[in-house]
Amino acid sequence: MLPPSSRYQFTPDLKICRLLNGMWQVSGAHGYIDPEPAVTEMFRYHQAGLTTWDLADHYGPAEDFVGEFRSRFAARFGRDRLAEMQAFTKWVPYPGPMSREIVERAVDVSRKRMGVESLDLLQFHWWDYADERYITALRHLSDLQRAGQIRHLALTNFDTDRLRTIVEGGIPIVSNQVQYSIVDRRPAMRMAEFCRQGGIKLLAYGAILGGLLSEKYLGRREPRRDELNTASLQKYKQMIDAWGGWELFQELLAQLKRIADRHQVTIANVGIRYVLEQPAVAGVIVGTRLGLSEHIADNQRVFNFALDPADYIRLESVLMKSRDLLAAIGDCGDEYR
Ligand SMILES: NC(=O)c1ccc[n+]([C@@H]2O[C@H](COP(=O)([O-])OP(=O)(O)OC[C@H]3O[C@@H](n4cnc5c(N)ncnc54)[C@H](OP(=O)(O)O)[C@@H]3O)[C@@H](O)[C@H]2O)c1
Repeated sequence: MLPPSSRYQFTPDLKICRLLNGMWQVSGAHGYIDPEPAVTEMFRYHQAGLTTWDLADHYGPAEDFVGEFRSRFAARFGRDRLAEMQAFTKWVPYPGPMSREIVERAVDVSRKRMGVESLDLLQFHWWDYADERYITALRHLSDLQRAGQIRHLALTNFDTDRLRTIVEGGIPIVSNQVQYSIVDRRPAMRMAEFCRQGGIKLLAYGAILGGLLSEKYLGRREPRRDELNTASLQKYKQMIDAWGGWELFQELLAQLKRIADRHQVTIANVGIRYVLEQPAVAGVIVGTRLGLSEHIADNQRVFNFALDPADYIRLESVLMKSRDLLAAIGDCGDEYR
């Protein structure tokens, strides 16, 4: 079981596990996921203390898996115990009209698929800032929250300037989900401080770069695109290229391995722990290919150690050689626009 430090009071009514299970990996772009073993596997995560799920309307069957899991869980343990799990979904609409009816219909679809009266957290994504209908959508979502269909409203991949505009416009935002890793430290530049001041939490993805930040790739020659068999690996390989390239990444992996050995943990543990220790970060989402692969026991170790100042100095000796991703790509989420 996980230690108390693994739990986090995310909102007054929601205590989450700081290590969230990411469900993009069941979308189909990361290998075929068989629904039956996948839903069965969700019990293992829950029983290990990994009770918080991150998903989206467009992650293939993810919302249906949550609905099925909740239904089986209630049948086995009783409905009262459903409060032990948290499921954070997203709404990622194509830019277009954002009438109340359209917004409400989208929320209804997610509620129905997940089998909930009220969504624990709805994280809103928007593709195009030039189309300001995202503000209209957020106002409707805020109304739906007041009506009880959403418990908490959040964003994903919004930059600091838009986040500020939204919050100052009176829309209550509890978190922003962004890419955050030892390689992609853009959130530390502007976003984290703004969030810290406003009590907004960061949920981080990409902390282990789809699995690239692990012993598996230490000492390995640069993989070709066709050797990277998930959408996640392909995405983060591009990030490594923008950050400084494969050679520098190998230097980073070697340094991480030395740090991991000192703490008797793995490279992935150090990568996740690093992000967990950053200001404003409530949790790190680690993707899980349910029924295909699992790293539960290894990932649980992130709560059993802490990085010390010497580790940070060692890391900085490599990180100082990397490119400035804020300058190269832009603020959080700009890679999507
Ligand atoms: N808001 C957004 O735009 C956005 C974007 C991307 C992701 N996300 C969220 O974040 C989640 C994470 O996705 P991600 O793409 O960032 O992937 P990730 O968490 O960086 O990587 C997941 C993969 O890492 C490997 N892994 C996990 N634990 C490991 C360990 N201890 N040692 C070695 N390898 C390990 C597994 O690979 P194998 O299965 O091959 O073993 C797993 O499939 C998604 O599911 C989603 O919920 C959100």
